[in-house]
Amino acid sequence: TELQLLLPWLLQLLHCVCHLCVNHTCETEAEGACWNSVMLINGKEEAVKSCLSPSELKGQVFCYSSRNVSKRDCCFTDFCNNETLRLNPEPPTEVSGWSQLELAAVILVPSCLVCVGVILGMCAVQNLRCNHIKARKQDPEEPVDDQTLVSSDKCLKELIYDMSTSGSGSGLPLLVQRTIARTIVLQESIGKGRFGEVWRGKWRGEDVAVKIFSSRDERSWFREAEIYQTIMLRHENILGFIAADNKDNGSWTQLWLVSEYHEHGSLFDYMNRYTVSVEGMIVLALSIASGIAHLHMEIIGTQGKPAIAHRDIKSKNILVKKNGTAVIADLGLAVKHDSNTNTVDIPINHRVGTKRYMAPEILDDSINMSSFESFKRADIYSLGLVFWELARRCSVQGIYEDFQLPYYDQVQSDPSMDDMRKVVCEQKLRPNIPNQWQSCEALRIMGKIMRECWYTNPAARLTALRVKKTVSQVTVVKDVKE
Ligand SMILES: Nc1ncnc2c1ncn2[C@@H]1O[C@H](COP(=O)(O)OP(=O)(O)O)[C@@H](O)[C@H]1O
Ligand SMILES: [Mg+2]
Repeated sequence: TELQLLLPWLLQLLHCVCHLCVNHTCETEAEGACWNSVMLINGKEEAVKSCLSPSELKGQVFCYSSRNVSKRDCCFTDFCNNETLRLNPEPPTEVSGWSQLELAAVILVPSCLVCVGVILGMCAVQNLRCNHIKARKQDPEEPVDDQTLVSSDKCLKELIYDMSTSGSGSGLPLLVQRTIARTIVLQESIGKGRFGEVWRGKWRGEDVAVKIFSSRDERSWFREAEIYQTIMLRHENILGFIAADNKDNGSWTQLWLVSEYHEHGSLFDYMNRYTVSVEGMIVLALSIASGIAHLHMEIIGTQGKPAIAHRDIKSKNILVKKNGTAVIADLGLAVKHDSNTNTVDIPINHRVGTKRYMAPEILDDSINMSSFESFKRADIYSLGLVFWELARRCSVQGIYEDFQLPYYDQVQSDPSMDDMRKVVCEQKLRPNIPNQWQSCEALRIMGKIMRECWYTNPAARLTALRVKKTVSQVTVVKDVKE
């Protein structure tokens, strides 16, 4: 019977009210939903109505939160999100009736009574709501013993390991994520990117990184959390995702992404501070290429993963681990490939990458956005630039170059698209490869890889897998020599 009710929804497209769409309506893909939300922004209630894709729908955090500063609802019939949601429902009428009567008589005693009454009333309402939410939120995949799981003495690694061997392969269950996030104590701010701030936090004595988005950037938060929870994404060269949580601090919703903490920070910070040995460079280059190759690779099967393109590869979005390897971070702009329909799931926020690292075809807008291959090839161009930054810092017999961003000698800081297009597309300039790199085998190969990553013709560029193989052979050659 439930299936019968759901059947029309499974089979047909849904029409929803959408504020920001043409004609104020949108159409969801099959298995999507209509989304209705209201949020308190600068003291004003702001409603957002739109369509929700099936993948957004799966991240249930979006549909079921129901608190004083933000309320969301997902529904499954045409234009069901037309109703107006309101925050702060009126307290029960019995309570206010009581208070008015008593206030007329005495002042002190009744006001106390009112306070107690209001608190009880709110508890009752909250309870009702919770029960209601619980009744709706029956996810058979969520283990019942989440609480016991988190309350045991397990450390993060064990928790994540448990989940990757027994769970869905996409990460910790939402309740566990929330429980972890809510027991983190923030320590210090460690970075600022495009969205909010990154903090170092402590969870049960372990360091974690917390990326905090403002409620304005909810879509970006959701998108990044969604990408990190793609099944089988976990890899030693991709930042280890721990939890996503939307947390109410009384006046606004704080959106958290919790991940493993790496004290060296970004590759950008690391290269500014240190030079690297030839081995150090190869280890970093190999791990960066491995991370990107894993992202780009489609794995077929039930425990498979879709191909993913990063779209913002740069030294600030790569982190350096204690053991000298690297992880790819900041997946907020990534796109997934659906190989069945050969479509790209472009995120709703049309945020583009970092101009300095943009491939020529993005700068001159000739990129074929409907082909997934295009995004992978643009990543490879950016990877070439990162390799160039890295190779400059490789110290061979005490000789190395200072840290510089790509095109530091061609454009000023924060270049415009036009500045970049002139240099990269019209003048066809690329970063300079110093002569002395020819005298070191590893640097010579790195130089060759770079050139083959930043060809103007995207189809001529190396693939991530090819880069990985070539770099890994450098180590072999070196080992043989020694
Ligand atoms: N897990 C982490 N460990 C250590 N530093 C981090 C971590 N995540 C981010 N950072 C620091 O914060 C900066 C911004 O993080 P990022 O995820 O790129 O955010 P944004 O989307 O705002 O660019 C990074 O460049 C890095 O310096
Ligand atoms: Mg970033």
